[in-house]
Amino acid sequence: MKVALARLPALATAALVLGGAGGWLGAAEPLVPAQLKEETVRLKDAPGRELTEGRCNICHSLDYIPSNAPAMNRAVWQKEVQKMRDRFGGPLTDEEARQILDYLDGNYSGKP
Ligand code: HEC
Repeated sequence: MKVALARLPALATAALVLGGAGGWLGAAEPLVPAQLKEETVRLKDAPGRELTEGRCNICHSLDYIPSNAPAMNRAVWQKEVQKMRDRFGGPLTDEEARQILDYLDGNYSGKP
């Protein structure tokens, strides 16, 4: 019940935005699908997916993973995960970082 009530204003706002954009400002329409898409990024199904999704979307979209994949291999992913921890303060234990690295290397390494 609480949840249903809390969602109502957001839905009403979304309807207003959609109505407004469709009504007189056609150029604004593409913004809405782009936002929805970002929220529904799902990574490839493999061991480590849930951990990676949970830890790597704290600060930014999961879209960073597939969009960087062509330039990545294990060594580059390792540096990247390390940077998320050291420079940006990402909350990862060594064990979690290792599992995430295995997952990223196995599924999102496009570089030989
Ligand atoms: C504590 C916050 C935080 C967490 C957690 C985090 N990142 Fe990031 N990430 C950032 C910031 C800040 C940037 C750079 C600024 C930007 O472009 O948003 C970034 C950028 C990236 C980039 C783009 C390339 C680059 O270096 O700028 C990739 C790829 C990336 N992150 C992957 C990951 C992965 C994989 C994880 C999970 C292990 C993760 N991030 C977790 C903060 C974080």
